[in-house]
Amino acid sequence: MFHGIRKRLVGTYLFIIILTVVLIEAIMIGTIHHYYMTSIHSTLKNQAEVVSNFYTSYLSNTDIKSNTGKLLDNFSNLPVQIQIINLKGEVIGDSLHTTFGENLKYSDIKDALAGNRGDFIGKDAVTGESLMAYSIPLRSREGIVGAARFTTSLELTNKTLRNIYLYLILAGVGIILLIFLISLYLSNTIINPIKKITRVSEDMSKGNLSVRADMGTNDEIGLLARTLNHMADEIQKTETLKNEFISSISHELRTPLTSIKGWTMTLADTKPEEHEIIRRGVYIINLETDRLTEMVEELLDFSRIQGAQFRIQKEEADIHKLISEVYEQMKQRALRQGIKLEIDIVEKPRYLQIDTKRIKQVLINLLDNSLKFTAAGGNIKLSTGTCFIKEEEFFYINILDTGCGISPDELNLIKGRFYRGKNASNMSGIGLGLSISSGLVKSHGGILDIQSETGKGTSVTVKLPLKS
Ligand SMILES: Nc1ncnc2c1ncn2[C@@H]1O[C@H](COP(=O)(O)OP(=O)(O)OP(=O)(O)O)[C@@H](O)[C@H]1O
Ligand SMILES: [Mg+2]
Repeated sequence: MFHGIRKRLVGTYLFIIILTVVLIEAIMIGTIHHYYMTSIHSTLKNQAEVVSNFYTSYLSNTDIKSNTGKLLDNFSNLPVQIQIINLKGEVIGDSLHTTFGENLKYSDIKDALAGNRGDFIGKDAVTGESLMAYSIPLRSREGIVGAARFTTSLELTNKTLRNIYLYLILAGVGIILLIFLISLYLSNTIINPIKKITRVSEDMSKGNLSVRADMGTNDEIGLLARTLNHMADEIQKTETLKNEFISSISHELRTPLTSIKGWTMTLADTKPEEHEIIRRGVYIINLETDRLTEMVEELLDFSRIQGAQFRIQKEEADIHKLISEVYEQMKQRALRQGIKLEIDIVEKPRYLQIDTKRIKQVLINLLDNSLKFTAAGGNIKLSTGTCFIKEEEFFYINILDTGCGISPDELNLIKGRFYRGKNASNMSGIGLGLSISSGLVKSHGGILDIQSETGKGTSVTVKLPLKS
């Protein structure tokens, strides 16, 4: 129950509160004691002064022994014991008649007989009772003739004080107990969420990534929980991506490999004179090997572009010339597929700061998509121009096809890694073309814009900043 953070929290609270309570109580006890004692002392002193003055004023011309009775009679109403002591130290008058004739050895009496005021706090030599005494010299014209001693019992006061101290100590212990319980409760409000997060992270580390830490608070622990959840989300995403990647790659590799394997077996059984079969076999093996190489290139590119070291290398290049080159490269394939590939650009050069190799790759990817998703008899048109986005001028290249289009719910997904649309189920491809292209355009400071309508066609626009 008491270890770790709880021990530290509760321990700190307790230490502080015990220290505070002890200090405050010590000060209070000291003050109360002092207050009681001084007030008793000053009462005794006042009474003694009155008696001493009375003696000096009215009785000092007769001898002390004969005045004792008068003195005691005059002040018998005072709630203290009054003793009159002669110069020898003998009690010659006692308002309580308990010590008459005794020779008292208290220090205050000695002080008073020597001419000073004498104080005494201590025990009665005979009864052991706690006492406070104040002695004052009695003077006649000749000088000191004796002393008057005022004594009061401290028993009742001490009892009252003890009760007060007891209450104070009990209250102190109560406060400490209360704070202890509160600090236990407070420490639980910190420890329980931490325990919960620890449990969740243990679950996660065991591979159960579907658990989530739900704190619902906005404090540091809530933030920790959200960070942990975010981490799990990311791991889960990577996990799904990895699985998708493996399944799409294996699927895509299998088709060309099956074909190559089939043809090598056919060729192994083919007689040397069967030229036509050999030619066709070699042609297909060559085609499928190209497809495999392309796929591997695409994957390598993808991992390179994802890497931290990836940089595009910009140079001044004629974009019109680049588009024409791509057009020339794809023309044959369009022709083969029975698709009309048109190009609508002005003949004069247009210079842009671009990574030529990469922009060419983007255009080939986009045209590859259009050619893949447009049926024979369709149209693909390449055009260029300039446009403004938030007062910044962009050069754009538009590829417009009359293909099958993309369903609206997939439009914002297709740029994602390994995402292949519903329309691609019978096609080759691993779903990286748009992801790579969009990344490359972005690293040029540009935008890849896709608009599409199912059944009508797709318009993809590469927008590159003119000022760069
Ligand atoms: N011009 C287009 N017409 C219709 N659908 C398109 C077009 N371009 C892209 N798509 C859809 O977007 C998806 C993602 O495209 P992307 O180029 O990233 O992958 P892919 O072409 O399937 O595979 P890869 O490019 O890796 O060979 C495609 O599978 C397809 O569903
Ligand atoms: Mg593609």
